[in-house]
Amino acid sequence: MSNSNKERMSFLTKEINRLNYNYHVLDETLIPDHEFDALFHELKALEEAHPEWKDPNSPTGKVGGKVLSGFTEVRHERPMLSLDNAFNEADLEGFHQRVLERLGGSITQVDYYAEPKLDGLAVSIIYENGVLTQAATRGDGVVGEEITENVKTIRSLPHQLAGDFPRRLEVRGEVFMRKSVFEKINDRQLKRGQKPFANPRNAAAGSIRQLDSKIAAERELSFYCYGVGLYEALPVEIESHSAWLTYVNTLGIPVSPLNEKIADFKDLMAYYQKTESSRDELPFEIDGVVIKVDNLLLQERLGFVSRSPRFAIAVKFPAMEARTRLLDVDFQVGRTGAITPVARLDPVEVGGVVVSNATLHNQDEITRLGVMIGDEVMIHRAGDVIPKVIRVVVENRDEKSVREIIFPTNCPICDSPIIRLEGEAIARCSGGLTCDAQKLEGLKHFVSRTAMNIDGIGGRWLEVLLKEKVIDSIADLYHLEKGRLLELPRMGEKSAEKMLLSIEGSKTPAFSNFIYALGIREVGEATARTLASHFETLQDLIDTDETVLMQLEDIGPIVAKRIVEFFALDHHKELIQALINAGIEIQYPAKVDVTNHDALPLLGETWVITGTLSKYDRNEAKDKLMALGAKVTGSVSKSTTRLLAGEKAGSKLTQAEKHGVAIVSEEDFLALLGETL
Ligand code: IVH
Repeated sequence: MSNSNKERMSFLTKEINRLNYNYHVLDETLIPDHEFDALFHELKALEEAHPEWKDPNSPTGKVGGKVLSGFTEVRHERPMLSLDNAFNEADLEGFHQRVLERLGGSITQVDYYAEPKLDGLAVSIIYENGVLTQAATRGDGVVGEEITENVKTIRSLPHQLAGDFPRRLEVRGEVFMRKSVFEKINDRQLKRGQKPFANPRNAAAGSIRQLDSKIAAERELSFYCYGVGLYEALPVEIESHSAWLTYVNTLGIPVSPLNEKIADFKDLMAYYQKTESSRDELPFEIDGVVIKVDNLLLQERLGFVSRSPRFAIAVKFPAMEARTRLLDVDFQVGRTGAITPVARLDPVEVGGVVVSNATLHNQDEITRLGVMIGDEVMIHRAGDVIPKVIRVVVENRDEKSVREIIFPTNCPICDSPIIRLEGEAIARCSGGLTCDAQKLEGLKHFVSRTAMNIDGIGGRWLEVLLKEKVIDSIADLYHLEKGRLLELPRMGEKSAEKMLLSIEGSKTPAFSNFIYALGIREVGEATARTLASHFETLQDLIDTDETVLMQLEDIGPIVAKRIVEFFALDHHKELIQALINAGIEIQYPAKVDVTNHDALPLLGETWVITGTLSKYDRNEAKDKLMALGAKVTGSVSKSTTRLLAGEKAGSKLTQAEKHGVAIVSEEDFLALLGETL
């Protein structure tokens, strides 16, 4: 028995290392997260029972545990420099000209290497005989702080190098926090009554400087290498920066998949633009691109000026943070009655977009920020999400011209009392569907693209229809008549026809869209899809109970309760009946039995997803494909069997075409799921 435990531990160690390597370095997810977690916990339990058999390089060592009393200083053997900045095309052009001039007239073409500028913090990591022995922050570039134990908690970083490694190697790169982790950590901070981090960079920096490496481990940091410092006894010959990164990647060190070799200067600007336009969709924050001369001999000839290399430059994106004045606060009523304080701002440009509103989330957030009307505030915009107020510039407060923000006690729309239940952060209007604001938001949600997709009616028309009492509920949309519509102010023949046509076209929704459209609290698109793939029919869902629901993926007690509560209400049942009577025919998908491998139609296939999809984001599409048995990887290789290509697909599409990989459109992908666009 004990021998089999020992074998199992050795197997699990190897298997988890292999899965980690595939996930973090090759960007290939071989098994779902929960299965990985199960293996990880099994190994941890065995190691606790048999510490004598624990591998010194066990992947469980990445959960932290050592507590430091303070940080020791580390003197970098080669200083860690910084980069000169460019802010526009002219600056980049100037850089290229200086490179050419410095190299003498004979050279007219230079190979460049372009990388995203990761928004985290620079670290140096030393491997001796393949073993991670020391990690340090950049500090002032000459002396940094020793953070070895914390860096060892980064899951993607090997403690032991693979392949043909040199005797000594110093890897340099950026430690950063993914956006999804940042959101999760901040939620947790708020729940624990602790201050949230202003941005992922601060969160990463704060986490890497934790004295308790257990806390650092909780923060799930990431790392990409962007260069090499010292090395000794190198077993390969390396002539370019790109060759360095390819080499360290073979040793197991993660390198950004967005890096590209660019032979023509003219294509650098296109790389900058392409990277900037994908900025919001990237899983981590970047604040520019870094352009480097690729050839190492040329790099050496170009040398350094003060503390920056002449062979590289950072081309910065416009900042995502800005300072402006809080002019007033309005209180918006959401679909579920949630009252959200919205900051009305002196309009300011943030990352190329003019922002005049930002969210203040809730009462607790206002208290935490200590913000008052008239204050100067910092706002942050990330991706498509609503900008938020992150800090008050208290230093600039003029006590005479600020006033307190008073949270209302009654709904600003229907005057019903606002209620905040104990233990909840959100205050809600108690008016329910008698509140026009809730009715309107419910309608807007119902017609939205990812719900019933009725694109002929925008929010403004819904407001008019409600106000003019043409409709009172969702089901009334299906009884609209052209004659009545034409009586509305500014309604033209064309708009009325378009409206009626798109309403008619929405009568055959996919089951998941219909569930989502109902607007059940806590049921977002992902949960709606889980429900649609589990229940045969809407009636089965209506008749279910909390115990059944809680067995489904990602459905906890609160969500289960909300679902049951929703279908228990008579007026919800009446609404559903009214929709069915009006001609709605729900389209049920073909069921997939995930426990039966014969029913996994994509088993054995390896897919890559590229471009922008309209119905699901890439992560959702990935989940869908994995549920059908496919393996989903990040880059096209020999083993890729199909490429799912959305809009604006770029280099992966070209590669797939080159390799003769079958290309699947979004429409075909949806057809595979039994859904339509
Ligand atoms: S190269 C000689 N490449 O930007 C300079 N730096 O001001 C070596 N950074 O402290 C840096 N992404 O923290 C380089 N792809 C990238 C980078 C990058 C982010 C940071 C790094 C450095 C700062 C330079």
